[in-house]
Amino acid sequence: MPESAHPNRWFGANPQATSSQGKNQHGWTRETPATWRSALGLTDKPEDREPPEGGGYWYPESPKKKGPIIAAIVILAVIAIAVGWIIGNATGGSSSQPNLAAKQDPTIAYGGRLFVSFACSACHGMQGKGGVDAAVPALATVSSSMSPVQIATIIEDGVPGQAASNGGTTGPYMPTWRNILSKEQVAALTAYIGQGLPPVAGAAPQGVPTGQGDVSAGQVLFLNYGCENCHGANGLGGVVNPSADGTIPPLGGKDFNHEFPTQAIKDVITNGSVIGKNPITSMPHWGGIIPPDQLTQLAAYIQTLPGPS
Ligand code: HEC
Ligand code: HEC
Repeated sequence: MPESAHPNRWFGANPQATSSQGKNQHGWTRETPATWRSALGLTDKPEDREPPEGGGYWYPESPKKKGPIIAAIVILAVIAIAVGWIIGNATGGSSSQPNLAAKQDPTIAYGGRLFVSFACSACHGMQGKGGVDAAVPALATVSSSMSPVQIATIIEDGVPGQAASNGGTTGPYMPTWRNILSKEQVAALTAYIGQGLPPVAGAAPQGVPTGQGDVSAGQVLFLNYGCENCHGANGLGGVVNPSADGTIPPLGGKDFNHEFPTQAIKDVITNGSVIGKNPITSMPHWGGIIPPDQLTQLAAYIQTLPGPS
């Protein structure tokens, strides 16, 4: 826009002002910053301004100076959005995650948390979506083929593992949870599965640390695969089992380390066992579910445990 047509907010368009007009006695131009004028004891009011040579009026600051300010605001906004996106992704707080503050049916929420902490999700996939091992069914449509009583019964009684010639079992089987889960917990799991296994805010396995060594990784895996639910906190045992032993065995300690060198630990975890009929709980078969590097990490962790004193 030619300057002569520029509308002045005090005087309207100034037909005489052109960019060729020079400086006044103070050395001002149209672009003189307001701070310089105030340093000279002059205000920005029109009466404090002497007319330029050849008449006309000095303008206030040109409105086009807002351009760089707007550009700076836009750049800052883009940076703020980018930083927010990076932080959101680094903490796993992306918008696809369920909102932790959102209300959810308490029984379904509890069932969803048990489904992760008892490692149902490790075998059946998160939200029962399957895809972990061909021997383990997805559960998403189970509620249309099984009644709540049937679902509760298979959770409590499991489906016995088939003994294999190596002393373990032929493949992953559904463990017996009768002595490990309470009636309330089985009911919450049954309700959660009956509802189609919806996402539950915060119900997710812990992130396995990398770069902290096998023992730390194994400690997290011991929780994520629900080993602790059967073998006790810190592997100290004590969980009742109607078996010859009377309890699910503790892990770790001098005797254990003697009986179970590293490879033997990995073999038991891989192959599981059948030590009796329901309601006796046996060791689940984790071959095909726990990858070899994680077996190494679990064994390294178990070898640090105290065992019974
Ligand atoms: C070690 C792996 C493993 C774990 C852990 C496990 N399951 Fe299973 N589950 C199986 C296998 C294998 C089957 C298939 C049993 C069969 O029909 O032979 C199964 C079957 C089921 C079924 C019946 C599905 C159908 O279509 O017949 C339900 C329901 C079920 N599991 C729920 C659970 C719940 C709840 C948990 C956690 C408390 C759990 N499972 C933990 C392996 C596992
Ligand atoms: C559903 C309960 C249950 C879960 C879950 C479970 N275990 Fe076991 N585990 C057992 C039982 C019962 C035995 C005893 C088996 C036997 O005597 O043949 C056993 C035996 C073992 C043994 C051999 C110790 C011994 O004295 O026989 C090791 C090692 C072991 N489990 C590690 C693990 C690890 C690691 C996990 C998690 C990945 C795990 N277990 C999850 C029930 C469980």
